[in-house]
Parts: sequence; structure tokens; C-alpha cells
Amino acid sequence: MSDSATGQRVTTQTEQGLYIDPEALTAHLSALHYSDDALCMEQVSITELVKCYDTPCYVYSKQAILDVYQAYSDSFAAVDHQVCYAVKANSNLAVLGVLAQAGAGFDIVSRGELMRVLAAGGDVSRVVFSGVGKTRDDIDYALTQGIGCFNVESISELTLIHEVAVQLDKLAPISLRVNPDVDANTHPYISTGLKDNKFGIAHEDAVAVYEQAADLSHINIVGIDCHIGSQLTEVEPFIAALDKIVELIHKLRDKGITLQHVDLGGGLGVRYIDETPVSIDEFAAALLPKLSELGLTVFFEPGRSIVANAGVLLTRVDVLKPTEHKNFAIVDAAMNDLIRPALYQAEMAVIPNVLPSSGIETDGMQPWDIVGAVCETGDFLAKDRLLSLATGDILAITGAGAYGFTMSSNYNSRPRASEVMVADNRHQLIRKRETVEALYADETLWQS
Ligand code: LLP
Repeated sequence: MSDSATGQRVTTQTEQGLYIDPEALTAHLSALHYSDDALCMEQVSITELVKCYDTPCYVYSKQAILDVYQAYSDSFAAVDHQVCYAVKANSNLAVLGVLAQAGAGFDIVSRGELMRVLAAGGDVSRVVFSGVGKTRDDIDYALTQGIGCFNVESISELTLIHEVAVQLDKLAPISLRVNPDVDANTHPYISTGLKDNKFGIAHEDAVAVYEQAADLSHINIVGIDCHIGSQLTEVEPFIAALDKIVELIHKLRDKGITLQHVDLGGGLGVRYIDETPVSIDEFAAALLPKLSELGLTVFFEPGRSIVANAGVLLTRVDVLKPTEHKNFAIVDAAMNDLIRPALYQAEMAVIPNVLPSSGIETDGMQPWDIVGAVCETGDFLAKDRLLSLATGDILAITGAGAYGFTMSSNYNSRPRASEVMVADNRHQLIRKRETVEALYADETLWQS
């Protein structure tokens, strides 16, 4: 089931601030619901999780992850396909393991991510290696392990892969990442398919680079790929990109270069609050007619759409600081735990663990900026949200399963949050909270 199934709004903008109806919001999220006014993930209450694991804590629903993976598989059942989950969205071993067991392939961007996939039991032959700056070491490791495909982003990378393949006497499977120069209509920092972006090989140059690749003894051309951006809510940019890719596939066929797969990257958006992204079904319905004609295996590299709404970040209200101009709720998570609001002005929902007794009436609620304790004005998780808050309250930031923990840092010497997975009525710590001592364990005092 897709979390973006309906477009009904869950917010009310008042003069004071934005009210997000927690029950209406969770009705869109398969992982979360309120039971007797208390928030639960699957069959586990958030109160119990906080008791066991404290805050800040990331929690992921196993079923919600599998549901979206299955939605991709079902929607594209008409063509031979491979879903390569983009590890960068959430690289916890438990998350990767659940997807590996379900048969997923993976999209990686570093040796480190490949090592995680292997540690989680992933099949290396189903892994594609993206990224603009693969090092000799990355390439050597991936080729030795038996990587499924290198998504090549430049001629110099192609030359380097060939050099390493010659040294190892292996045949390197490659695809060229084509930059189709399509506007994805998303935040500029996460738009990747424009000619101004650093990514891919310009589509005008692609045929010539394929011809160059075809002449290299240790290169095996297997595919073509593109990825135009992230959090795309419309299907049109995907279609525009696919049209350009199809044109190239035909040109390549005319030159005698045949491919085994076409990889459309990731990028399908999710509903964080009121967004109405195209559903996986609609996405498939729009692309399948063109894809079926190609007769190639279709790859996707979804990250966000698989894990975003499977996860929440739980945080506790430590200090309430009303001022003349603004009310600040200082919580125990901060920009180091979840940087999306600060970096992309991303609006993420903040909902209470326990519904206020006044129900969903906004009377008596105050506008609050939910901020962390980091010494930066940019350290906020949400602004001007109408909430009824008391010190010690637990809040859940939804949509935090993607690009949450993976983008977290130790800024201000803050240990990173713990991570927990929930399945039915069971829960398990899948990464323990860091200790402060561990943060400087590899550092030494100046000795002389
Ligand atoms: N494939 C490639 C080559 C990518 O660069 C990305 C994401 C994906 C797949 C997965 O895209 P997704 O399905 O997750 O949209 N940190 C940002 C998002 C950065 C996306 C980078 N590339 C955020 O928090 O919004």
C-alpha cells in the first residue's frame, strides 16, 4: 500500500501557526496509528519504546518498508524488473537485511555502502554502483566482489574502471548515467538531472561515450541509467527523462550496441504532510507502455519512497521557553539528528505521543518552534506549529525514515540517536545510542 493514497489535507493554517491534525495525518501512514489516544507503531506503543530505549530514537516499521517494496514489485510485474534500494536513504543493517530477504537489489555510492549491503546478506550481483567520484579503491573492491553494474558518470571514470579491470583481469559491467537535462521541479539541492548539475554524461554526448566504451577490452556494456532528482511529486519529469533515454536506446541499437537493462533511478516523492505525490501505481501506469516496448529489464533505485514514512524520530520536550515574539520548545533531538528542515527547509510533521484531552480542537494550543539544543539559529526541526505542550512530552517527527539517521552527525559532541525496528508486537534495538566516550576514542592528545 502506498502512503500517498489520498490527497485529503491534514493541515489548517491559522493566523498563529500551522495545525497538523495528528489523527488525519496518521491515517495516511501505514506504520502509525493512535490507539486510546496514544501513538503506536504497528502493535507497539511509543510510550513502551521510549521506556525501553529513551530519546532521541529513530524507530522503523518493518512492515511499512516491505509494503512499499512490494508495491514497486506488484506495480511493475508486467516487465522484468529489479528494485535497487538506494542505501543512502537509510543504511542500517536491519533495514538492508529486511530488503535483502525480500529479494531487493541495492544502489550504492561508496565502498562503505557496499560493505554494509554484504554484511546484511545482500546479493552483490544485484547491486548498482552510482556516484560521481568513485575512487580506484572503490572500483577495485566492487569489481573484486562481483558488482552487478557501475553507473558511470564521466569519461575519466570509464577510463579508471577499465584500468582497474585490466589489472584485475575482470570484465567490468557498466551503464552510462545519462543527464537528460530535465527539470524535476524539486528543491534545487536535490535536483540532479539538469545540465548545470554535476551528475551524469550529457545526453548529446552519450552515444559517442558508449562507442568509446564498446572499444574497451575489459568493459561490458549492460545498461543505461538516469536519476533526475529526489522528492518528485509529478510523473511528467520521469516521462520526459524516459523519452530521452528511449531515443538513445534506439540510436545505440542502430550502432549495434545492445543493452540488457534500463535504470530509471530513484526520486519518487512521498507525502510528508499535505503533498500529493503520484502513487507507485500511477507512476507504473504512466511508464509501463513505453517500458514494455523496450524488452529490457527495468531497474529502479528508490530510497525515500521505501523508507521515509516507515520511520519516526522520537524526541522529548526538555525546555519550554515562551518569549514575547516566539515560543520555543527545546527538544532532545536537534539538527545533528535530523538536518532536513535546516538544510532544505523541509517541512516535517511533529505529532504528540498522547493526543491532548481537548481532542483536535486548536483552542488552547500555542504556536511553537520545535528546536534543538545546538548552538545555531538554523537548528530547528519545525516552525510555528500549533501544539499543546508540556515539559517531558514525547513528540514524533514523522517521515524521518529516509535521510534522517544517515545524514546525522556528532556536531556539538552529541552522540547519535539509537535506532529501533518494530514488527507486529515486537521491537528490537538495531543500533545502540553512541556514547560520548566513543566520539573521541580514536583521538589522541598531542604528545610532544
Ligand atoms: N539514485 C541516485 C543516483 C541518487 O542520487 C539518489 C538520491 C537515489 C537513487 C535515491 O533517490 P530517492 O528515491 O531517495 O529520492 N538528502 C536529500 C535527498 C538526496 C537524494 C540524493 N540522491 C533529502 O533528505 O531530501
